[in-house]
Amino acid sequence: MKDIEQLQSEAIAAVAAADTLDALDEVRVRATGKKSELAAIQATMRELTPDERKALGQRLNAFREAFQVAFDERRGQLASAALRARLETERLDLTVPPRRVPPGRPHLLTQVEHEMLDVFVGMGYQVAEGPEAESGTYNFDLLNIEKHHPARQEMDTIYVDGFDDVVLRTHTSPVQARVMTTQQPPIAVVCPGRTYRADAVDATHSPVFSQVEGLVVAEGITMADLRGTLLAFSRRMFGADREIRLRPSFFPFTEPSAEVDVSFEGAAGNHGWLEILGAGMVDPNVLSACGIDPERYSGFAFGIGIERVAMLRHQVRDIRELFDADARFLARF
Ligand code: DAH
Repeated sequence: MKDIEQLQSEAIAAVAAADTLDALDEVRVRATGKKSELAAIQATMRELTPDERKALGQRLNAFREAFQVAFDERRGQLASAALRARLETERLDLTVPPRRVPPGRPHLLTQVEHEMLDVFVGMGYQVAEGPEAESGTYNFDLLNIEKHHPARQEMDTIYVDGFDDVVLRTHTSPVQARVMTTQQPPIAVVCPGRTYRADAVDATHSPVFSQVEGLVVAEGITMADLRGTLLAFSRRMFGADREIRLRPSFFPFTEPSAEVDVSFEGAAGNHGWLEILGAGMVDPNVLSACGIDPERYSGFAFGIGIERVAMLRHQVRDIRELFDADARFLARF
């Protein structure tokens, strides 16, 4: 019994001294395992009288219970110390400033296109779209551009190989024809989209560009409606103090036709006019070719280059900037 007393206090001291979970487990094996002194004492029980055996059994159980209590307590301490240490090493420093990922945004051309459409949608127009690979019927014929008319050559048309009479549309005007052949007046649409011409690239030309086409057809539409509409548009896009002027021009699909300039005031006090679009009264030939009665209805149409508007609005000097995808340029808008 005295040995057991001694063993127990040694074992419990060893438990208290164990400073890792592994060390604690070694203490358990040494103090209570098969090769421990405790096990050796237990093995002598067979040689004892029943009373002695009972007393020794109770004493050994008391040892095991006391050991278990001390062991559990120590294991709890070591486990929470280990957890604390792990949390400490894995600690996140929430005060470190994050790396800034700038948010993306629509390309300048998309922004300007949306602004332009917003102006017209605000006046009650609907948005209509058509295909970029277009048949000659819509791109030319229904728009009064005859087969051998110089305008057909001047447009530097890109033809689609392997198809009869399919072109990359040279303007968004074919969408006018698509709308008029499927809808009766009153019509008020704007038609945004890409257009293509076999132009050499320079500061003001790109073989791929984009336009917003406008078309209004109803009873009693006059050139005054066209002028008022374009003035309102110009003031919304370029500033409330702008004026516009219409210069006589020619397009096969409008009669009369005009080129429209918007006024500007330069920083150095210089002022003048900048061309922004082509427009006119829809030619009666176009109305009737598209199935609309020119005796009853009249209309106006216009075509605006989106790149041109973007360049004028934001002082972009070279159209290539709009297509180069240079992040330093794009980040300005
Ligand atoms: N389609 C012409 C072009 O690309 C622009 C244009 C001019 C469109 C007059 C129109 C218009 O609707 O009436 O050069």
